[in-house]
Amino acid sequence: MTGPLERLARRGLFLLDPEAAHGISIRALKSGVVPSCAAPADARLEQTIAGLTFPNPVGMAAGYDKNAEVPEALLRLGFGFTEIGTVTPRPQQGNDKPRIFRLVEDEAVINRLGFNNDGHGAALARLQACSRQALIGVNIGANKDSADRIADYVAGIRTFYAVARYFTANISSPNTPGLRDLQARESLAALLSVVLATRDEEAEKSGRRVPVFLKIAPDLTEGGMDDIAAEVLAHDLDGLIVSNTTLSREGLRDQRQAKEAGGLSGKPLFEKSTAVLARMRKRLGPDLPIIGVGGVSSAETAAEKIRAGADLVQLYSCMVYEGPGLPGRIVRGLSQLCDRDKLASIREIRDSRLDYWAGRNV
Ligand SMILES: Cc1cc2nc3c(=O)[nH]c(=O)nc-3n(C[C@H](O)[C@H](O)[C@H](O)COP(=O)(O)O)c2cc1C
Repeated sequence: MTGPLERLARRGLFLLDPEAAHGISIRALKSGVVPSCAAPADARLEQTIAGLTFPNPVGMAAGYDKNAEVPEALLRLGFGFTEIGTVTPRPQQGNDKPRIFRLVEDEAVINRLGFNNDGHGAALARLQACSRQALIGVNIGANKDSADRIADYVAGIRTFYAVARYFTANISSPNTPGLRDLQARESLAALLSVVLATRDEEAEKSGRRVPVFLKIAPDLTEGGMDDIAAEVLAHDLDGLIVSNTTLSREGLRDQRQAKEAGGLSGKPLFEKSTAVLARMRKRLGPDLPIIGVGGVSSAETAAEKIRAGADLVQLYSCMVYEGPGLPGRIVRGLSQLCDRDKLASIREIRDSRLDYWAGRNV
């Protein structure tokens, strides 16, 4: 449960336009007024995935800290890792405002931001000031007016190589026209070849191999999932992030806001993104790391993503509703689950509901 201060802060923020409220929350984190609610370290929650040691499996998803303004403050809230971006080579404004909408009854968000960000240079300067130990991933994308989108991803790898603990190639935002086409088999093959060759070159130069993950949409056909899985297995990719926001509007209560264009996230995305996660786990086998994202709102939903095949989870939208204490509460809840079920590691529950979720028709 949220505390009285968190509830009061939420009430105040909800009087504001969502984008203004987001700006205030970033400023509050920067200024240090948000108290740390991190859970105590628990060795049962620690895992080494793609060569990185995650102190707990709960991460901040991309899109909250697009410009790397508060990565270390987010880690202090109790997240085991955080992902900045999406960043594009050149700064861009994104779409016209308003472009973020709260669906309060559904505990959901619709956004059509369109990769508004300060560009590579600004984020790089901020990350250079962060500790190299901090588990910060860099989510890279392409400018809307780019003549060569793949070149924008390559520029991301080169620019951030020294400061990123991992990369996420985001090809699944619905708000940059044509971006999701990179998920089609031939385009994905071309993207992965070039991006991973660039990573290998940088690894050779620096003696440090930075893992690269691919972030996909939840709106995929079975054939689309087959194609992605085939290309992922054909390349030396380090993992998958499932999923970005959805274009679906099924099952929403707030019919007025549901009409807004953009990607839907939060509680209504949980089932769909978890089913796609399980279907990708089935296709990829037990070894490839998968980060499950979409509608994580509690320790129970975080655990359910792991049961459906995730190694780690991320969240964004439910923190809008639950407040900055959410990551700490989830981590504490996962420790309690380990106590209750006498687990030596949270990994023991991975895949235990894989068949159930892979069979869900959503
Ligand atoms: C306002 C907003 C902005 C987002 N921006 C990005 C982004 O820049 N890059 C990205 O990969 N995902 C972005 N996302 C998607 C989230 O990272 C996440 O995949 C999705 O919201 C599902 O998780 P959730 O239900 O916990 O929010 C954004 C989500 C929201 C709500």
